[in-house]
Amino acid sequence: MTLKITPIRKDFPNLKDKIHGKPLAYLDNAATTLKPKQVIDAVSAYYSHYASNIHRAVHALSQKATLQYENTREKVRKFINAKNTAEIIFTSGTTESINLVAQSYVKTFLKANDEIIISEMEHHSNIVPWQIASKETGCTLKIIPVDNNGEIDLERFKELLSSKTKLVSITHTSNVLGTINPVKEIIRIAHGHHVPVLIDAAQAVGHQTIDVQDLDCDFLAFSAHKMYGPTGVGILYGKQNLLEAMAPYKTGGDMIDSVTFEKTTYRELPYKFEAGTPDIASVIGLGAAIDYINRVGLNKISSYEKTLLSYAIKELKNISGLQVVGSPSKKAPIISFVLDGIHPHDLGTILDEQGIAIRTGHLCTQPLLKRFGVLSLSRASLGIYNTPKDIDALVGGIKKAKKVFKC
Ligand code: ALA
Repeated sequence: MTLKITPIRKDFPNLKDKIHGKPLAYLDNAATTLKPKQVIDAVSAYYSHYASNIHRAVHALSQKATLQYENTREKVRKFINAKNTAEIIFTSGTTESINLVAQSYVKTFLKANDEIIISEMEHHSNIVPWQIASKETGCTLKIIPVDNNGEIDLERFKELLSSKTKLVSITHTSNVLGTINPVKEIIRIAHGHHVPVLIDAAQAVGHQTIDVQDLDCDFLAFSAHKMYGPTGVGILYGKQNLLEAMAPYKTGGDMIDSVTFEKTTYRELPYKFEAGTPDIASVIGLGAAIDYINRVGLNKISSYEKTLLSYAIKELKNISGLQVVGSPSKKAPIISFVLDGIHPHDLGTILDEQGIAIRTGHLCTQPLLKRFGVLSLSRASLGIYNTPKDIDALVGGIKKAKKVFKC
């Protein structure tokens, strides 16, 4: 299964630009991916030719915008194999999707002394919303530890589950270690205790097939901008019976059925959770991103990224003083590392001067970094358009930084 990289690279206008006079090696895909011209064109077409609000007017522009918006909902449904478009809620991103469940599900169903389980490898966006909701309801947050390889301790997870557990929220793929968690197994175990599970799939969708019916997850959150789509749009998938039982999280226009000063009734799913004018252009752009991924083929993307990841790990491990953090058995194309004698911010700056974009810092996972005894990391994360040349540029850039710092 080969990926035709040259035409793919031509689709991404950013890759034609020079950064500090150098070709761009974009290795910050876990933060956000670049966007192909098909996505940019879809967004631009909306603003140029049918900018209008959705679900509200009978005029042609609004009809077209509504159709394109709802077509994207169907594309998302098919992409993750949900049963019904009622189960696909558009939000502003993974963060809002998780906040929606934390506010709406937790407040509707949880009470004092109930427990929510998350893991030590969660992004802050899968920690803080549960902390706040726990504080408001009197629940307790329980944490599954991560071992030295960067894998979740499943035995400890089983021990943490009890009759008090009311929700598990776990990342599919770590944005730091690249660990692909055994989420199907985690869901099966949790369901054995009648506990629903939310999966943070921000780093998984667009890199591998996600089938919500096969996983049997109760909620799944992800973002358009990490899968070649626009910023400002996320998805919350939820099982219909759960979403129906939950109270709305935001209220206002477009989510109501009738309003009097005495009483308001809400629309059916998914609109109950989509108050106000959404980011219509970006939702339409997400539709184009899904078309793009489907055209290239998710299996081809996964297999290509796996090969590139192996090459990158091999080359990085040859650099003296460089340690890759974690070595999980199943790993997404995300590599975080420390380099003796050079602070990640200094490395990031020296690499940037050479046109190489990586992420540095706490990577929105301070508890995980504490677990590994570091305050800051450097991270290279791969996407559909990266090539071995980008990896060679990174390795060359790191060697240059070592010379500058004489280490
Ligand atoms: N969650 C994004 C990252 O890990 C922002 O970089």
